[in-house]
Amino acid sequence: SVMREITGIDKMEEQLQNILGVEKVIIVSGNTDVSPWVKSELGRACAMRMNQSLQGENIIAVTGGSTMAAVAEMLTPEVSKDFVFVPARGGIGEDVQNQANTICAKMAERTHSKHRVLYVPDQVSSETYQTIMKEPHIKEVLSLIKSASMVLHGIGDAITMAERRKTSREDLYKIQQADAVGEAFGYYFNESGEVVHKVHTIGLQLDDLEHAEHVIAVAGGSSKGKAIRAYMKQAPKNTVLITDEGAALQLLKG
Ligand code: F6P
Repeated sequence: SVMREITGIDKMEEQLQNILGVEKVIIVSGNTDVSPWVKSELGRACAMRMNQSLQGENIIAVTGGSTMAAVAEMLTPEVSKDFVFVPARGGIGEDVQNQANTICAKMAERTHSKHRVLYVPDQVSSETYQTIMKEPHIKEVLSLIKSASMVLHGIGDAITMAERRKTSREDLYKIQQADAVGEAFGYYFNESGEVVHKVHTIGLQLDDLEHAEHVIAVAGGSSKGKAIRAYMKQAPKNTVLITDEGAALQLLKG
């Protein structure tokens, strides 16, 4: 639009696409850190993108977090083309409103489609883990996750996420010592994009992303600049990044 041209957002999107080496970058105006409603705009942009990219039946794997919760709020029945929403990974310590299970239920409700739940406790012994993995229900959800045509996920600042998840003192120490700056799917990344820590749980693994036809990462706010840059070094090339001006300006600073 003319507005986007005047404010230079179109140019910023193009520049960031080149710098980050991803399929597409979509920038909404504002800074989530300063204006909380910008998160809803991120949600709206994601809903629009889903509407454009998806046809017919689709399995959509979703992570947790407040940004994904904002995406859920913006979905409407028009976006639905017969979806099944599944949590991308087992429990990774979020409060109930930020859990992928809750968000998937909301997304299904708002698009008049289906969802599945994945209840896996955060800290389990390896025996319990083996038993859980044999559950037919868990197996079925895992196979849905692996065949997802779309993955929707958030990105967070590493320390913020480690603290929000009430990570054990040892793991927190490990994450700090390794200079982790970013987090996505329970993987923690340093500035070079190397995985320095991983939350042990079932579900989507980083390598699985390559097999999803569509991957949308949604994250905004200037405080997430470093995190986004770090994660994007690992991100599959087909990733669409939906962000805001606050984060985009940090990313362009290089
Ligand atoms: O814990 C799930 C998760 O998607 C993380 O992988 C990510 O770092 C975080 O939530 C993002 O949360 P928010 O959108 O609230 O910043």
